[in-house]
Amino acid sequence: MAPTQDELKKLVGYKSVDDHVESGMVVGLGTGSTAYFAVERLGQKIASGELTDIVAIPTSVRTKEQAESLKIPLCTLNEKSILDVAIDGADEVDPDLALVKGGGGALLREKMVEVMAKKFVVIVDESKLCKGLGPGFPLPVEITPFCHMHTLRTIADLPSVKGCEAVLRMGSSSTNKPDGDEIAVTDNGNYIVDLHFKEPIKDVNAAASELKNTVGVVDHGLFVGMSYQVIVAGSDGIKVAG
Ligand code: 5RP
Repeated sequence: MAPTQDELKKLVGYKSVDDHVESGMVVGLGTGSTAYFAVERLGQKIASGELTDIVAIPTSVRTKEQAESLKIPLCTLNEKSILDVAIDGADEVDPDLALVKGGGGALLREKMVEVMAKKFVVIVDESKLCKGLGPGFPLPVEITPFCHMHTLRTIADLPSVKGCEAVLRMGSSSTNKPDGDEIAVTDNGNYIVDLHFKEPIKDVNAAASELKNTVGVVDHGLFVGMSYQVIVAGSDGIKVAG
């Protein structure tokens, strides 16, 4: 029987820790249903004594709570600015290993932590692989609540993302479906605008830079040039890129 998507997520989550985490390391912990399994594996290995002197930096309140429940020692970037490795999922991965992230609403903390890692290891099932970023998953952009509709319109007018539909995320910040009456609020007290594309983003670097330079934007879900390795689980086994 073919493995379920959850089984594939578990495979890559466990492999990422088995392959990349050694005793004494500072480890960045991602957010989402795939990163969940990496955190679970790290907790198991610390509990069994196989890994010692680990300190981890979580990228969301959810991950912090999971790590605390597993008694994983934690700190923040304030205490440790350089990480040996960070492990996280992604919403889309293109052939250059550029990513869309933030479906779970944690993109700002994820980027802050993962950009400081010597190795950023991405774990996905094959459904996340794409030829071009954009049409397969909305691109999340974290914005300040102040005059958020103005910022939303400004973003939608940027030349590099022209034609996208910009939608303010409602409901929980951890789902990109507009499924609630309340505006979704991130762990940082900000809002998220999801950019829906019909065609792949033509120039990902231009989009990343225009979004980042827009006043009112805190950060965006394009993670370009950050991936050290992408571990992909599919029906024909595990593949490693990078
Ligand atoms: C959270 C993220 C997640 O890594 C991304 O949404 C993938 O999540 P999942 O592993 O649940 O599919 O960026 O902000």
